[in-house]
Amino acid sequence: MKYISAGIDGPAGAGKSSVSKAVAGKLGFVYIDTGAMYRAAALFAMNNGIDIVNERERLISSLDRLDIAIKYTDDGQRVFLDGADVSETIRTPEVSVGASNIAVIPEVREKLVAMQREMAKHDNVIMDGRDICTVVLPDADVKIFLTASVEERAKRRYKEMTEKGMDADFEEIKRDIEYRDKNDSERDASPLKIAEGAAVVDTTGLTFDEVVEKLTAMIKEKM
Ligand code: CDP
Repeated sequence: MKYISAGIDGPAGAGKSSVSKAVAGKLGFVYIDTGAMYRAAALFAMNNGIDIVNERERLISSLDRLDIAIKYTDDGQRVFLDGADVSETIRTPEVSVGASNIAVIPEVREKLVAMQREMAKHDNVIMDGRDICTVVLPDADVKIFLTASVEERAKRRYKEMTEKGMDADFEEIKRDIEYRDKNDSERDASPLKIAEGAAVVDTTGLTFDEVVEKLTAMIKEKM
């Protein structure tokens, strides 16, 4: 059987994860959050006292010990590092910056991309990230580049964090998004860019439901 795959790329805070999760729920697809895998890799480095930026060689030689697993439960996708559920721990601003820094390392990407391709072989999937339509699944049935203005993305992230009861500072979030935009699009290894054949969806000014409807319709067209 041929499975359908939809790739959603875009900058930090464009709403990829929440939108992809909702669309996957509507269509009965498996949602794969690849950003969570880079976050878990960053947490691995942090837990092992490895400075991601200044100790690259040490990090690369420790990658054999990187044990990330993705499991699906009633609560959706959960991310495990060394067998422990780190789904919440990987959402802090420190881990966000660490993920963006670790994502520039080709050896890290190679390892995670192989896992992601394997996952797409066994189900209809919606996979979100930065390089899904350019590198991971260049033959995806549906390719989408989801974006929004920096201001709007920072507002959404702020709201999301305060609603979860996390400490949030709007200016810090905005700076973090700008830093990651630059880092993600200027890196040599699989930079964030619009894939050939991808549809650009700018969500500035659209409601969450409108975006979900739009993407669901785009995928249904291919089914
Ligand atoms: O949700 P948010 O946009 O804040 O970030 P994320 O999707 O959880 O990804 C965290 C970081 O991992 C990003 O800033 C990227 O640098 C990196 N990433 C990547 O390089 N490639 C992917 N396929 C997914 C994430």
